[in-house]
Amino acid sequence: MRAHSVLIASNRGPVAFTLSENGALTMRRGGGGLVSGLSEVVRDTDVLWVCAALSDGDRGAVRQAPGGRLDEAGNDTGPVRMLDIPPPIFHRAYNAVANSTLWFVNHLLYNTPIAPQFDTRFRREWESYREYNGAFALALAEEAAHDAKVMVQDYHLTLTPAMLRVERPDLRIAHFSHTPWAPPEYFSLLPDDVAAEVLSGILGADHAGFLTARWASAFMDCCETFLGARIDRGDRTVTYEGRTTRIGVHALGVNGEALRARAAEPDVESHMTAIRDLVGDRKLIVRIDRTELSKNIVRGLAAYREFLGRHPEWHGKVVHLAFAYPSRHDLPEYREYTAAVQRCAKEIEDEYATDDWDPLILNVHDDYPRSLAAYRLADVLLVNPIRDGMNLVAKEGPILSERCALVLSREAGAAAELGPDSLLVNPFDVSGTATALHEALILPEDERIKRGVRLREAATAMPPHRWFEDQLAALS
Ligand code: G6P
Repeated sequence: MRAHSVLIASNRGPVAFTLSENGALTMRRGGGGLVSGLSEVVRDTDVLWVCAALSDGDRGAVRQAPGGRLDEAGNDTGPVRMLDIPPPIFHRAYNAVANSTLWFVNHLLYNTPIAPQFDTRFRREWESYREYNGAFALALAEEAAHDAKVMVQDYHLTLTPAMLRVERPDLRIAHFSHTPWAPPEYFSLLPDDVAAEVLSGILGADHAGFLTARWASAFMDCCETFLGARIDRGDRTVTYEGRTTRIGVHALGVNGEALRARAAEPDVESHMTAIRDLVGDRKLIVRIDRTELSKNIVRGLAAYREFLGRHPEWHGKVVHLAFAYPSRHDLPEYREYTAAVQRCAKEIEDEYATDDWDPLILNVHDDYPRSLAAYRLADVLLVNPIRDGMNLVAKEGPILSERCALVLSREAGAAAELGPDSLLVNPFDVSGTATALHEALILPEDERIKRGVRLREAATAMPPHRWFEDQLAALS
């Protein structure tokens, strides 16, 4: 087996396989922001990507690949090692711990009178999370060359850096969190030993990266509170058990040129024609999200409803295009949330739709070219998450529409860079969001253009390849 000098580890990999009824495997690109950003970075390079098999299709592909190396089984993937972690362990690690616990903590999503409850069942789930992190550490230890750089991604893999360091003290290890980080008062929901294990797991890295200064400082606060670690906030370092980890802030942005080129393709143009046929010359308020609890889609719809109630002069003159594509449907909360979004949309239609005006078009199926078409046509882009690591939608929109006004949650990481040129909202304030929607619709043309230029500059300041190179450099 070849030894690699740069490795990436993430739960979701650059490719996914689907198993058809006749047993044939088809390969497609993996989904999600992390994957598309990193795929662009590693294209044409020799970086090895270690990821987990997420489905039966993936498992089928792994079993045909020597040592899980998809590239060595003749797939056109670039170097990828996919780990066939036993399904029960994978599901407990991914669904129960990563997505239902760590994601909920860092996005402040719990309905605390009822959840969380850390009981014996959780302890079994936690054990699986350890095993899953251990499987990554082992694979990385096997594949890495002496002194290699290993870039571990996200909340699925908080324990891997420390585990890997034990196996391979020669490696230079980075961890990057694509999510927000919770303040200590909320992080303290986790059992003390689990909180300490997560934090010290990440501190196994030489460099721990975050999307904004706010999330980086929340992490340092947690290290101080739960580990008694020594923090140097000026230098951004955390010293714990004799080792120092540098804390970095790397605000991931978008490759504007590539996005604009993709959005100029014929499939996008034909979606634009279809949308124009549907909405005519009415103004367009657009949102594009995974159907994700933290994205705050229900309050976004409630704000649009209140806006329509307060502004009858806009009836017949505006359409809200809401694209909420499926996500994490193994979790009951997500299925219920999708139903709540659909209910809310139906209520708006029942209340306001007329024979010749559909005030809201909700679509819950993923269609990338159609999303790009919606960006290009947007007059207003609504991005109102409860809390978000960065939110790349807020960055993609202004790149594709020169005159789009951005209504942005102050709790999105992107607000640190885009805030001054957006209409910032408190995501819980439905009335405030309704007001912002109205202000965005009536924002004068010259103001839209001026803000648009600055938004585009900020959105493209740190394209994925620079973001990645900066982190590699920080490990040197
Ligand atoms: C967030 C995470 C990413 C993840 C994405 C999609 O953005 O930070 O790591 O890829 O959600 O989530 P999924 O569970 O579908 O991989």
